[in-house]
Amino acid sequence: VMARPYYVTTPIYYVNDRPHIGHAYSTVAADVVARYEALRGKPTYFLTGLDEHGLKIERRAKEMELAPQDFVDRMAAPFRDAWEELDCAHDGFIRTTSAQHRERVQALWKQMEAKGDIYLDDYEDWYCVGCESFKTEKELLEGKLCPIHQKPVERIKERSYFFRLSSYTQPLLDYFEAHPGFVQPEARFNEVKSFVKEGLRDLSISRTSFRWGIPVPDAPEHVIYVWLDALTNYISALGGPAEQGESPLFDEFWREAETITHIVGKDILRFHAIYWPAFLMSAGVRLPSQVWAHGWLTVNGEKKSKSLGNFRPPGPLVEAFGADVLRYYLMREVGFGQDGDFSHRNLVNRYHGELANGLGNLMNRIVASILRKSLGGRVPEVDLDQLGDIDHGLIEKARAAARDASKHFEALAFHRALDTIWELVAAANKYVDSTEPWKLAKQDDKTRLEQVCYTVLETLRWLSIMLFPVMPTKCNELRGQLGMTALLPTEQVDLWPSAWGGLRPGTKTLAATPLFPRFDESQERSILERLGVEPAPAEPKKANAMTEPQQSNDFIEFDDFMKVDLRVGLVLSADKVQKSKKLLKLSIDAGDPEPRQILAGISEHYAPE
Ligand code: MSP
Repeated sequence: VMARPYYVTTPIYYVNDRPHIGHAYSTVAADVVARYEALRGKPTYFLTGLDEHGLKIERRAKEMELAPQDFVDRMAAPFRDAWEELDCAHDGFIRTTSAQHRERVQALWKQMEAKGDIYLDDYEDWYCVGCESFKTEKELLEGKLCPIHQKPVERIKERSYFFRLSSYTQPLLDYFEAHPGFVQPEARFNEVKSFVKEGLRDLSISRTSFRWGIPVPDAPEHVIYVWLDALTNYISALGGPAEQGESPLFDEFWREAETITHIVGKDILRFHAIYWPAFLMSAGVRLPSQVWAHGWLTVNGEKKSKSLGNFRPPGPLVEAFGADVLRYYLMREVGFGQDGDFSHRNLVNRYHGELANGLGNLMNRIVASILRKSLGGRVPEVDLDQLGDIDHGLIEKARAAARDASKHFEALAFHRALDTIWELVAAANKYVDSTEPWKLAKQDDKTRLEQVCYTVLETLRWLSIMLFPVMPTKCNELRGQLGMTALLPTEQVDLWPSAWGGLRPGTKTLAATPLFPRFDESQERSILERLGVEPAPAEPKKANAMTEPQQSNDFIEFDDFMKVDLRVGLVLSADKVQKSKKLLKLSIDAGDPEPRQILAGISEHYAPE
């Protein structure tokens, strides 16, 4: 079966802001999906870009005393740099001020007009410049504030072109009915459906009171509404809308794509799940397969705030941890679709617990240590038919992980994919604990040692593929240490692991530097300091079902701590207390004239000896 094309997009970012963790979240997610699908042999196209028109941008440029075009040109570079730093290998980078985009937006307008869906009328309503969106009276907060930006909306009264959105109420509902996976997660889909069920109003799609936009064809005193302009990026970047045969990219990745996924934040779902499909229906262009709305991140418990400057470009984080670690953390910490917190401290914890002590340790124990000392650093030759139950146990785990992780990646459940893969990492470390290769190395017959090492090495090979979408650089380093070539996704070749035993006997492994070196405490402190994180350990964190149990936040003040009388003593004896499951009776010399007797509730965790 030929693998069919896969197309994935991020929102195009407003250039009035600098790139930050929130933007990075969408972009990394799209890159991970694209890399995953490419590994499976699908032709893939990953698009990101910039939203450069609209009143918000025009005003910001004015504040900066720059011509709008100069302003957006200046703001574009940091986004390109950020995605390069984060190893986000987009195939296209669309800017809405490009000539191709302008032409295609006007072409789409004409198709909608030809359908009879555009008319001119007088208009009066509330407008939020932050959202670049009209608001109904009942959406507004007390004092005519935008519910999202908490800022006053503006009264707009002008003649404008309208799109007959109202006549798409039923077609949209029918489409939703026929495509139950169109919006993810499901709860968000339900919100979209109930919004549409209430009936849609026609949409004003042009403005005359400012200039910074794409002129309406044959009515240049109007500029096209920035959301109609912006949404069209998803096809204009491919050369669409276009007739069959006019634009090969549009044919391949839109017309004939197996899957078209728009990744968006939950705040802009309505535009993508309602307006965009309606525009496309009107123009007679196929609809995307799914709109995936992810949640919002706070940083160290704080919302985005100008004064705190907590949403900084990701550069310093990449410098401190490397792109792959940051990508890993972004995909692992918060369930895709849920809100969550990006916490520098949790990043460090996961780095140590999961990367250094989990995957890194597995690598070190076998490749850097035993294999080198006892088997000349080469991949041993083993007879797979001679393996024991415990070996097959791990192989089965690997197969299950590959199967489940692929399902999760396909469903954009990145955190689940990584959970599954980390179960395999844990199982492999446990396998090493149980088989005790360091003892096997002392035996004259090396057969068992070879079996154990091979089983772990092959597991590592599988891991180097399964983790590649998230940590491409580290995975290729890992492969280099296994003596393998870098992964090179190729169309129509499925590289996902399926056959056990791909690692060739005799391959020379390399014990290079650890993949995830541990930080000591002072390094950790200086990294956090450089990131501007307070050294105090107390940290409010939102509960998140997908993370490990949270540490208690019941910290005491330092003054209270000073009341503690803390002493070190020598345990002279320890005995079980009859009939108690929990208690041990301790006799302790803490410098008193007589030893003290203490009952300690630790018996479930410590043997008396
Ligand atoms: N320009 C529009 C999108 C047009 S798409 C045709 C826009 N731009 S934006 O720059 O304001 O936001 C872009 C994306 O970044 C949105 O998906 C938004 O949800 C996401 N995020 C911005 N801050 C965020 C967080 N703090 N957390 C997660 N995502 C956030 O809207």
